Amino acid sequence: MKKVLITGALGQIGSELTSKLRNEYGINNVIATDIRYIENSEVAKDGIFETLDVMDIDSMALIAKKYNVDTIIHLASLLSAVGEQNPQFAWKLNMGGLTNVLEVCKELNCKLFTPSSIAAFGASSPKDLTPQDTIQRPSTMYGVTKVAGELLCDYYFNKYGVDTRGVRFPGLISYVTPPGGGTTDYAVDIYYEALKNKKYDSFIAKGTKMDMMYMPDALAAIVDLIEADGSKLIHRNAFNITAMNFDPEEISAEIKKHIPDFEFGYNVDPVRQAIAESWPNSLDASCAVNEWGFKFEYDLAKMTKDMLEKLKSKGIGINN
Ligand code: SER
Repeated sequence: MKKVLITGALGQIGSELTSKLRNEYGINNVIATDIRYIENSEVAKDGIFETLDVMDIDSMALIAKKYNVDTIIHLASLLSAVGEQNPQFAWKLNMGGLTNVLEVCKELNCKLFTPSSIAAFGASSPKDLTPQDTIQRPSTMYGVTKVAGELLCDYYFNKYGVDTRGVRFPGLISYVTPPGGGTTDYAVDIYYEALKNKKYDSFIAKGTKMDMMYMPDALAAIVDLIEADGSKLIHRNAFNITAMNFDPEEISAEIKKHIPDFEFGYNVDPVRQAIAESWPNSLDASCAVNEWGFKFEYDLAKMTKDMLEKLKSKGIGINN
């Protein structure tokens, strides 16, 4: 990866990935794009930024050519909960964006990284230590687009030799940019509310376990997989990865170690609860470990300490 174009660069992953890649690969080698333009955001002002709607293949190809990119990291997509509010649009955006990116990669001979998700599994997948290769019959539109996307990326690799790679991300926890409407968002919201109001009611029910990962580990995984030796990859789209799995009780107990008067309760949202119940309790990430050396640094305790420190240093909880 020498010159990279990122779609959805103002989103939860993109905003942090853009700064990391600018630092590591050079400011002129990262082309951040998003459908939005946020004038005072670091992504828009600290380096190259272009407005791009991923549904517009001509503009995408023009930007990729203009900067002579060799890699595209395609992040623009609707998440699970918002996807259920408008499933037709979720299909259109998630699949339309991906087919455009795949065509541009094919034409310009670019490498592609695009994430899949734990949402690519469904109620009929094995729940615990869900294997890399297993039943994938998701019940959300987001999950349907993720499975279709995995297959399409493999198709472009096998048929056209496009170097496509991806991971199945678990819920991602971060303090820079909030997630955009996912089922795992409770595990981000809880930290903000613990600091602001010392109180949080989880929209996910007691005992519901899901895989999670702290953003620094997610970003490292993206770079490690893109840079991995392709000849060692048996799988491509997409690798199970995870760093921890917990239920709401466990994350609240960890927060209480730092904020003893934190009050935790439940106000379960049936839509997001049903989605969570259809997903695995824990993933088996051994193929990612064996094929490209996937690793992580943060467990629940280490992440909680860091999240609370970082949010406090952003002023969260001070004057609310
Ligand atoms: N975090 C995502 C969601 O909840 C899962 O990929 O939709």
